[in-house]
Amino acid sequence: MEQRKKYTLRPLPYAYDALEPFIDERTMRIHHDKHLGTYVDNLNKALDQYPVLYQFPLERLLYNIQYLPKEIQTAVRNNGGGVYNHNFFFEGMAPSSQSKPEGKIIKEIESQFGSLKAFQDKMKEAALSVFGSGWAWLVKNPQSGRLMIVTTPNQDTPLPGNLIPLLNLDVWEHAYYLKYQNRRADYIDNWFHVMNWDMVNKRFENTEK
Ligand SMILES: [Fe+2]
Repeated sequence: MEQRKKYTLRPLPYAYDALEPFIDERTMRIHHDKHLGTYVDNLNKALDQYPVLYQFPLERLLYNIQYLPKEIQTAVRNNGGGVYNHNFFFEGMAPSSQSKPEGKIIKEIESQFGSLKAFQDKMKEAALSVFGSGWAWLVKNPQSGRLMIVTTPNQDTPLPGNLIPLLNLDVWEHAYYLKYQNRRADYIDNWFHVMNWDMVNKRFENTEK
């Protein structure tokens, strides 16, 4: 989708308390309004120096970071990454009543990982292995057609690695500390209850077009 003006804070696709009791309302409010809000503001501040860049999709800026003007590369990497990762994350969740593991993606996961449980175990292991702040991802490698689980530090995305994101999990402490404190493993277990499988399936089907 073309973006020709400044970035704005995209509203959550559900109520702040819709993911209770797995993800609490207060965390969602701060995470979306404050953390994502700040990334949006700082991305705009960086791009205001080169307004021509507003015409490119955010994915393209992140894929081509090394070709951006030197003085805004770090700001776009961190804040553009923050905007992309959080929109992708929030849209990758849904109220637990709507979280149904169905569709082509489930068949693909079962065929490549053995079972849904085996995939969840690997995703959890990856998310726990992130030292400090970062993300765990389910991606598709367009060359091999294989699904892969990868991690990225800070607000980096898998886009420069030419991988197609299907699902991401925020393991920055701001994503879980209020409710779970240091218990990242419990947060991950509960996050599986609010995965938006419908969205993951749509993203997967788009890679096959
Ligand atoms: Fe976050």
